[in-house]
Amino acid sequence: MFATKDWLKASWHAGRGMLRPVTGAPTAAEHRAKQEVPVMVPIRALGPSYRERITQHLLQLEPSDRYLRFGYAANDEQIRRYAEQLDFNRDEIFGIYNRRLELIAMAHLAFSEHPEHKHCAEFGVSVLKQARGRGFGARLFERAVMHARNEGVNMVFIHALSENTAMLKIARNAGATVRRDGSESEAYLQIPPASFDTRVAEMVEQQFAEVDYQLKKQAKQFWDFLANVQEVRSGVQHARHQSAE
Ligand SMILES: CC(C)(COP(=O)(O)OP(=O)(O)OC[C@H]1O[C@@H](n2cnc3c(N)ncnc32)[C@H](O)[C@@H]1OP(=O)(O)O)[C@@H](O)C(=O)NCCC(=O)NCCS
Repeated sequence: MFATKDWLKASWHAGRGMLRPVTGAPTAAEHRAKQEVPVMVPIRALGPSYRERITQHLLQLEPSDRYLRFGYAANDEQIRRYAEQLDFNRDEIFGIYNRRLELIAMAHLAFSEHPEHKHCAEFGVSVLKQARGRGFGARLFERAVMHARNEGVNMVFIHALSENTAMLKIARNAGATVRRDGSESEAYLQIPPASFDTRVAEMVEQQFAEVDYQLKKQAKQFWDFLANVQEVRSGVQHARHQSAE
């Protein structure tokens, strides 16, 4: 959970980022910001209208990452089917966007429908290569656990290949028990019941992510508009230059 000062600091950093153009090569400050682990990462719960973006995110995963994510080397068709079958009413999908509004990381918290296991949920996650090692995977897990807790879940499961050091680290760091069975591992995290604090924290996080997304959207639209103006201007200049010749 975040202290108010951390929340404000994160908002300030998020707001400052909007002032930089979203096109072109990363600036030195942007590169530096990439190395820093953000204080609070805006994580949005995604609805069915994001299905296509989720598909595009997953299609960007390399075969080896698809293998780690799904337990088999899913082809494009299987990925499309997975995205088509996502049940947004039952499950929760979380996403992290960059300033270009590309979905750079996402997590799927799948709730069990089985009456005997209705207090269990399974977690799956993927972070695009260029955004790894910045704490996004761990933050998505934290966010999903908070949501699971508020939904009355008392155990979150992760199925991972034993070679998946990063995923197993995320689980262990959060206090999960990891059981290795040859090339595969199962991790489970027991979570305490929800409290007033966890409910408020989730509302604040969702609100923070919503504001962040809307700001990024506005900033992107504005920078796109400026780029168009620039294009028209250079077109006019070019035409003038030619007619003067
Ligand atoms: C697993 C995955 C989600 C991790 O995402 P990430 O954003 O890079 O992870 P984080 O930055 O939060 O790092 C989490 C921990 O793993 C460690 N870690 C990250 N990459 C690592 C790697 N390649 N090898 C070893 N440890 C690694 C980090 O140091 C961190 O541990 P620490 O906090 O103790 O330092 C990402 O690698 C991925 O998308 N892989 C392909 C799909 C997949 O494997 N999904 C999981 C199965 S459901």
